[in-house]
Amino acid sequence: MRMLLRGSHFILGVCILCLGVWCCAQADSTDAAPMEKAEQAALYSAIQGFVGDWWNGSDLYPDPCGWTPIQGVSCDIVGGQWYVTALSIGPVHDNSLGCATKVEFRAQLFQLKHLKSLTFFNCFISPRRHPVTIPDDKWEKLAGSLELLEFRSHQGLIGQLPTSFGYLFKLQSLVLLENGLTGELPTNIGNLTNLNRLVLAGNRFTGQIPDSFGRLKKLLILDLSRNSLSGHLPFALGCLTSLLKLDLSNNHLEGKLLGDIAYLKNLTLLDLRNNKFSGGLTQSIVEMHSLEELILSRNPLGGDIMSLEWQSLQNLVILDLSNVGLIGEIPGSLSGLKRLRYLGLGNNNLTGNLPPKLASLPTLNALYVNGNNLTGVLNFSEDFYGKMVRRFGAWNNPNLCYPFGLMTATNAPYGVKPCRRGITLLEPNSRAKLGDGNLNQNSHFIASLGFSSYRIHGLWQFFLVDTSITVLLLNLFL
Ligand SMILES: *[C@@H]1O[C@H](CO)[C@@H](O)[C@H](O)[C@H]1NC(C)=O
Ligand SMILES: *[C@@H]1O[C@H](CO)[C@@H](O)[C@H](O)[C@H]1NC(C)=O
Ligand SMILES: *[C@@H]1O[C@H](CO)[C@@H](O)[C@H](O)[C@H]1NC(C)=O
Ligand SMILES: *[C@@H]1O[C@H](CO)[C@@H](O)[C@H](O)[C@H]1NC(C)=O
Ligand SMILES: *[C@@H]1O[C@H](CO)[C@@H](O)[C@H](O)[C@H]1NC(C)=O
Ligand SMILES: *[C@@H]1O[C@H](CO)[C@@H](O)[C@H](O)[C@H]1NC(C)=O
Repeated sequence: MRMLLRGSHFILGVCILCLGVWCCAQADSTDAAPMEKAEQAALYSAIQGFVGDWWNGSDLYPDPCGWTPIQGVSCDIVGGQWYVTALSIGPVHDNSLGCATKVEFRAQLFQLKHLKSLTFFNCFISPRRHPVTIPDDKWEKLAGSLELLEFRSHQGLIGQLPTSFGYLFKLQSLVLLENGLTGELPTNIGNLTNLNRLVLAGNRFTGQIPDSFGRLKKLLILDLSRNSLSGHLPFALGCLTSLLKLDLSNNHLEGKLLGDIAYLKNLTLLDLRNNKFSGGLTQSIVEMHSLEELILSRNPLGGDIMSLEWQSLQNLVILDLSNVGLIGEIPGSLSGLKRLRYLGLGNNNLTGNLPPKLASLPTLNALYVNGNNLTGVLNFSEDFYGKMVRRFGAWNNPNLCYPFGLMTATNAPYGVKPCRRGITLLEPNSRAKLGDGNLNQNSHFIASLGFSSYRIHGLWQFFLVDTSITVLLLNLFL
C-alpha cells in the first residue's frame, strides 16, 4: 500500500486512506498499524541530515506512514508494522522539503531496513562551498532490500563512485546522472547482476569501461554518455544481449567497431557520437535488425558505405553518419529504409550524385548532405524542397547545382547554386561539358555564400539533432 501523496492527488489520497482505514477497522477493529519507534526515529534523523536540524516533523507528521504522510516517503506494512520502502530527497514536488546547504548521510539512513528505493534530486549543488561525497561504508546494510538508487543533478556531488555499491545485489536500477563524480568505474559494479538500468551519464568518470560490465546480463539500458571514458570497448559488451539502448556518446573511446556489438540483436538505440572510433563500418552493423536510432557522428571512422545492405535495417528512424570521414558515393539502398525520418551524411568526403530515390522515403523530414563533394544536378521535385525547407542541407558542395528556372526562389535549396548553361561540367553523365571560365566565378560565389550560411545552418542542424537526442534521452528515463 503506497502512501505517497502529491499535490492535487491529496484529496483523493485522503479519501482512499479513509476508505482503507475504514475497511481495516471493519475487518479487524484494530487501529491503523503502528510504526516501529526505532524506524520512526531513524526516518526523522535521516531526513534531518539532508534538510537540516531545524526540521523535526514529529509534530506535523506524528504518524509518517499513516494519517499524516511526509512528502517523498512511501511505506509498506511488514509483519503488522509500517516500514519506509521509498525515500526521495530534493525538490521533486512543489511541497517537497528543500535540501540544506550542509548535508550529511547519517548512519540512521542505513537503518531503514526495508528501503527499496532511494532517490536524490538536485540537492548537493555547491561544488565549491559544500562539496559532498557519497559515503563508501554502510551501503551493505541496505543490500538485502535496495532495488533502486538514484542521484540526479548534483553539481556538488563529487569524488569516486563507492566500491561498496557492489554489495547492493538486489539493485535493478542505478542512476547517477549529471553529478560531479570522478575516477574510474569500479569493477565490482559488475556484481550487480540484477541491474536492468545503469545510467552513469554526465559525470567526469575516466578510464576504461570494466570488462566486468559484461556480466550484467539483464541490462536493458546502459548509458555512460558524457564522461571522459577512454580505451577500447570491452569484448564482453557483446554479452549484454538483452540491451535495448546503448549510449556511449561524448567520451574518448577508441578502436574498431568490431563485430561484438552486432550480437546485440535487440538494440534499438546505438549512440556512439563524438568518440574516436575508427576502422570503418562493416556489414555487421546493418545486421542489428532492431535498430531504430543509429548515431555514429563525429568519429574518425572513415571508409565507404556503398557495399552495406542498408535495406536490412527496416526499423531505422534516425541515421546520423555526419562527420565520420566517409568516402565514396551515397548508396541508393538507403532509400529502402522506409521508416527513416532523419538522415545525416554531412561533413564527409562523399562524391557522386545525390540519389533522387531518397525523395521517395515516405517519412523523411531531415536530410543533410552538406559539406561533401557531391556533384551534378539535384533532381528533387519542388514539392520536396517545399516540404523539407531548411531541413534539407546541401550547402558546401561546390560542384552541386539545382535546375535553374524550375523552381520559385523560396523553395530553392539553401546555399546551392542554380545550374547554368555550361557549368554542369562535373555531372558524371555523358552530357557534361566544359564551361568557359564560369566555374571559378561560380565556385567563388558559392564559397562566400556557403561559408557565411554554414554557421547559421550549423547551429540549426545542431539544434535539430539535439532535439531528437533529447527526446531519445527523455524516452530513456521516463
Ligand atoms: C523531534 O522532536 C521530538 C520532541 O520535540 C523529540 O522527541 C525527537 O527526538 C526529535 N527527533 C529528532 C530526530 O530529532
Ligand atoms: C564483486 O566482484 C569482485 C570481482 O569483480 C569480487 O572480487 C568480489 O568478491 C565481489 N563482491 C561481492 C560482494 O560479491
Ligand atoms: C529479444 O527480444 C525478443 C522479442 O522481444 C525476446 O523474445 C528475446 O528474449 C530478447 N532477447 C534477449 C536476449 O533478451
Ligand atoms: C576529404 O579529402 C581531402 C583530400 O583527400 C582531405 O584533405 C580532407 O580532409 C577530407 N575531408 C574530410 C571531411 O574528411
Ligand atoms: C571533388 O571532386 C572532384 C571530382 O569529382 C575533384 O576533382 C575534386 O578535387 C574534389 N574536391 C575535393 C575537395 O576533394
Ligand atoms: C531527373 O528527374 C526526371 C523527372 O523526375 C527524370 O526524368 C530524370 O531521368 C532524372 N534524372 C536523373 C539524372 O536522375
